[in-house]
Amino acid sequence: MEEAVARAVEAGLLFFDTAELYGAGASERLLGGILSRLGALGDAFIVTKLAGYRVTWNGFRKALEASARRLGRKPDLVLYHWPPPYPFSVCHVTRLLERAVDSGLVSYIGVSNFNAGELERAVECTRRYEILVDQVQYNMFFRVVEHRLMRVASRLHVSLMAWSPLAKGVLAGKTVLDAPAKLLDPVFHRARRAGSLLSELARMAGRYNSSMASLALSWIIARGAIPVVGVSSPSHVDDALRALRLAGEEGVVRELMALTGDASVVEEGCYRVLHWNRLIPPPLQLVLYRVVLGGI
Ligand SMILES: NC(=O)c1ccc[n+]([C@@H]2O[C@H](COP(=O)([O-])OP(=O)(O)OC[C@H]3O[C@@H](n4cnc5c(N)ncnc54)[C@H](OP(=O)(O)O)[C@@H]3O)[C@@H](O)[C@H]2O)c1
Repeated sequence: MEEAVARAVEAGLLFFDTAELYGAGASERLLGGILSRLGALGDAFIVTKLAGYRVTWNGFRKALEASARRLGRKPDLVLYHWPPPYPFSVCHVTRLLERAVDSGLVSYIGVSNFNAGELERAVECTRRYEILVDQVQYNMFFRVVEHRLMRVASRLHVSLMAWSPLAKGVLAGKTVLDAPAKLLDPVFHRARRAGSLLSELARMAGRYNSSMASLALSWIIARGAIPVVGVSSPSHVDDALRALRLAGEEGVVRELMALTGDASVVEEGCYRVLHWNRLIPPPLQLVLYRVVLGGI
């Protein structure tokens, strides 16, 4: 991991994504430590996320102070990880995010896994600061955000960050789709239904002397979102850099769009990822994510 971050820093990629729940804080600690050893902690732009069970100012403040301790400095941008549990409203957590900026705990705010209606509400509720991003699941196999969220985000000047842009590695051609552990995961289920897309992508990668990962990431960039890719080696970083270049090549983009077609044939409906959390009261979510799962 250290080598991957070093390669990114060397290439000028200084945007890092983490969350208080990743490894129950271990991810923030690791990232802060590596950036500090590389002398890049001050230059990096660090995004972290507050778990969606944080619904009080005290909870926000303590969580952000703890994130800052683990990272070695305050995060730049904080996202609210998933929509708040009932009966807490989107407005309620948006105001708490703004208070975090007023208190100097973070510089910018955003949300994650909010659908179009929730994003509109969050933006309406802001009084002093802008919602910069909505981080949502988006990749060639999962395109529900194209039905409404993309248009709404663009109208509201909110950037979309795409998580699992490689469908957890499937779009990089590395995952065995029928491994028993993958049978229940919706990401792999969609990939199994996607017909010839993977083999076509592999052929295209061969023709462009590229990798499937670079092409899949360049497709996301060309569609106007920012891929948040899970890298673990310097070669993954190089693939991400190549994606930036490919996204600017008209012929490549035209071919990728033709390959993937219209979103309506892939997925219908409204974005609901992690929305079942809304039905679970905050203390139970905390037990689920911290005690039972030990982080995500
Ligand atoms: N907001 C949210 O709710 C949310 C949820 C999930 C994830 N995220 C964020 O999104 C990030 C990425 O998501 P993800 O890790 O689920 O999915 P991903 O980036 O789609 O896939 C990661 C997988 O792809 C592989 N990979 C990456 N680059 C590659 C390359 N160039 N060639 C071959 N394989 C490559 C990795 O390999 P290795 O196994 O070898 O490392 C890993 O298995 C996370 O790190 C996290 O920051 C956010």
